[in-house]
Amino acid sequence: MGFVDFGHRFPRLEKHGINEGVSDSKFIHRKQDHLRVALLDEVQANESRVLDRVELIHESLPEINLGEVSIESSFFERTVATPFYISGMTSGHDDAYEINLRLARIASERGWLFGLGSQRRELDEAFNDSGIDSIVSTYTDLKLVSNLGLSQLIELYQSPDRSASAKKIERITQRSRASLLAIHLNPLQEAIQPEGTPNFKHGVESLEWLIEHSAIPVLVKETGSGMSYSTLMKLRGLKLFAVDVSGLGGTHWGRVEGHRADKETRTFRYGETFKNWGVSTVESVIDAMTVFRGSATEVWASGGVRTGLDAAKLLAMGCQRVGFAQPALKAAMQGELEVNQWMQTVEQELKIAMFCSGSATLGDLHEGKLK
Ligand SMILES: Cc1cc2nc3c(=O)[nH]c(=O)nc-3n(C[C@H](O)[C@H](O)[C@H](O)COP(=O)(O)O)c2cc1C
Repeated sequence: MGFVDFGHRFPRLEKHGINEGVSDSKFIHRKQDHLRVALLDEVQANESRVLDRVELIHESLPEINLGEVSIESSFFERTVATPFYISGMTSGHDDAYEINLRLARIASERGWLFGLGSQRRELDEAFNDSGIDSIVSTYTDLKLVSNLGLSQLIELYQSPDRSASAKKIERITQRSRASLLAIHLNPLQEAIQPEGTPNFKHGVESLEWLIEHSAIPVLVKETGSGMSYSTLMKLRGLKLFAVDVSGLGGTHWGRVEGHRADKETRTFRYGETFKNWGVSTVESVIDAMTVFRGSATEVWASGGVRTGLDAAKLLAMGCQRVGFAQPALKAAMQGELEVNQWMQTVEQELKIAMFCSGSATLGDLHEGKLK
């Protein structure tokens, strides 16, 4: 099956300078497949949603007005309108441009941070993604997060010309005018995907090198399988701006890759075998709070966050920022209006949760508000 409906929903704009060769067309097909499959319910690890078991304490006498509840947060010591971010999903092809454009425009208006999907293709200097250029130059207020995978970072680190590697990374982040560079960890996906690069040796060393050479601060994020105490302890020693635990409970990459494969293949079977692999978002956050207590590294959460109430629970647990991927994609597939309505709904849900727990600001929404 092709990439259903994209032809209708995204009447292709003229090409954005993206050069497509044979291997590029495979890449584009895979990325389109991911977008299509990620929208299906069966690739969501709903059974592992521990978030439903976390509760805020109801306060019948909150002594505040709902209209005065503030969800402003801070980012690099600046005030931003919300504590939300669109977790990185896609980049580097025309459909990605359309999705990113819809999300970026509303994110910039509503004060959400915006994460790009993997910019691996941009490492090739011949590749020219003017889609990103146009987003960056149009939405100058947008706070952007660049994105690369750990396996690409390791390759760059191990290249004989490391200074050229550092320049390639800088080129990507500069072009995106990104505030942060996210490095994503996705060992399960790389192991299951037939085209994957499951080479994670020297990962911590590569991150150390990156942090030392990157012009902008670094965020390390998972992709829906969460972070164990042991992973978090390895990250504890690095000077990271933030860690997004992106845990089990939402989009699951074992399931996505399994679903993309034919039923007779091993990949399909691996998807089944590993369909619940990972650490839940809630457990990852609990461990992250212990590991990063007293450190300058922020803890962010994504992975199965579906409502503003989910976000409120994670913020009360101590997270500084909460991310959404699949729900943002779902809204963006429908249109810009739907993105705006979806963001507004999530913001209002957070405000209601804060109002009913007697929290006028995010600072008031702390551990003491949890049952
Ligand atoms: C279609 C799709 C593509 C994704 N691609 C990337 C990516 O390129 N880089 C990345 O860091 N995470 C990627 N992710 C993972 C998300 O950022 C997020 O960590 C994960 O989906 C869990 O969030 P969710 O349950 O809200 O979807 C992708 C997610 C989706 C749905």
